[in-house]
This record gives sequence, structure tokens and C-alpha cells, in this order.
Amino acid sequence: MAEERPTPESLDRAAAAVPQSWFDFRPDIGVILGSGWGRTVLQRPFVDRIPYSDIPGLGASTVQGHAGEVRLLESGARRAVVFCGRRHFYEGAGWGPVVLPVEIMRRLGVRDILLTNAAGAVNPSLRPGDLLLVTDHVNTTGLNPLQGPVLPGWGTRFPDQSEVYSKSRALEIKGLAADLGITLHEGIYAFTSGPCFETPAEIRAYHIWQADAVGMSTVPEAIVANAIGMHVAAVSCITNMAAGISGQRLTHSEVMESTEAAAEKMGRLVAAIIADSAAGI
Ligand code: HPA
Repeated sequence: MAEERPTPESLDRAAAAVPQSWFDFRPDIGVILGSGWGRTVLQRPFVDRIPYSDIPGLGASTVQGHAGEVRLLESGARRAVVFCGRRHFYEGAGWGPVVLPVEIMRRLGVRDILLTNAAGAVNPSLRPGDLLLVTDHVNTTGLNPLQGPVLPGWGTRFPDQSEVYSKSRALEIKGLAADLGITLHEGIYAFTSGPCFETPAEIRAYHIWQADAVGMSTVPEAIVANAIGMHVAAVSCITNMAAGISGQRLTHSEVMESTEAAAEKMGRLVAAIIADSAAGI
């Protein structure tokens, strides 16, 4: 597996591809947009952009529905750095591409990060198209991007994870959703390695573990951002009932179709979170 884990040198090489003007921009918030969420900001005017292929170690996403570029945006007085498209561990390129966006945000001075994803519903009361604010996670994989030497700026050897997802940010985001008339569920996200969807037995196990949703992303970035000391928020778009719940077979096209149907409210929520960033810090 190429570059299993980022090194100080690989992180420096990636950061060197980011122009000085980006460091002067001082974004209030960093965002990583997952499956189907890219569309929500790609239509908006932007200040600058870098294709992932221009950032050494980041590379192009291999997954349909994941655009591959990072943009600077302005929304009123707020500034955001937005990674449109995410790399996943299951793509087989190691942790480098997965966590590089978080490291670039750290170097840009970002303290507040929003992670979005598509997820399957483990909780049978959720429905495709629902949005869910992640309050905590279960890492089912045993994988951890912090394994190995502690990288510069990445906190301590044994980071506390009592509040990975900031309770104060969660309160603000719930308020924003309520103002927009968007129903925002809350729940626990189970992280699986992918790329296969889960078995019904696995989903029953995750249900017993209190999980409400399941997906193949977000937790690695949240683990790193928390270790760095960022305020983390995460929102899932429920795209399907998890394996065994509805009896239907799962496909990536169903995931794409559900995010498409929910794209308008996803876009409004992301825009409101960006416009509100820095308020809570
Ligand atoms: N399982 C894992 N990841 C997912 C799912 C799912 O059911 N839906 C969207 N991403």
C-alpha cells in the first residue's frame, strides 16, 4: 500500500502546493463535503480553487460523486476552505489522502471543522433523505490514522475523545436547522472500513452498540481534528436503510439518488453553517 501514513515530509510537500494567499485568507471554518454534498457549494462563487491533483499526496478521488477540488469561499464576513470530495481509506492509498485536508486546514489556522457524509440508517426510525447531526461515533474498524509517531501539531500520544463532536457547535447547528425549517435528527455514527456494505448481522450488532447510522468515512478526519484541538461537527445525509433493515439490496446509485433528492436542504444547511462560523469560538 502506497504511503500508508503521512510523514512530516509528505505533509510539508502537500502544504507547499498551497499558495501564500490562502494562508493570508485565514478561513473561519473548514469543510469536507462527502458523497453527494459537493454540489451544494460547487455552484456558489468562490475566491480561489486548487484541484486535488495539484496537491501532492491528495490525488483525485476514485469514487463517483466525489468532486476533487478545494475552494476558498466567502459568505458575508465569513471565510471558508471547502474540500469538495473526500478520499477514503478503502481506496487503498493509505491514510495520507484521507487526513491531508485536515492537516492543510490546521496549517491555514482553521479551528472549526464541518464534516459531511452519506450514511445508511441503522436506526429503523430514520428514512432516506433525513439529515442527522453526529453526536458521537463507534469506530468498528480497529483502524486509526493516529497510529505511528505523533506528527507535529497533532496533539498528544493518547488524545481524549470524551467530546469529539463539539456540543456547543451541535447546539448552534440545531438552532440554524430549526431557523431554516430543516428537521435535523441526532445520533451515533458507526464507522466501517468499506468498501463493501455491511452484512445484516453486522448492522444488528451496530444497533446493539447504539449506532443510528453507518458509513465508511468521517471518523478518521474527526479523530485527527479532535487530536489537533479543532471543534468538530458532522452531518450525515441518510441515503438508504442499512443492510437487512428494509430487505433491499444496497447500491452506490441509491446513495447518489438520495443525496440528489436532499441536495437542496443539504446546501441550505451547509451555507448557514458557513455563514454562522466563528460565532461560537
Ligand atoms: N453503509 C455504509 N456506508 C454507507 C451506507 C451504508 O449503508 N450508505 C451510504 N454510505
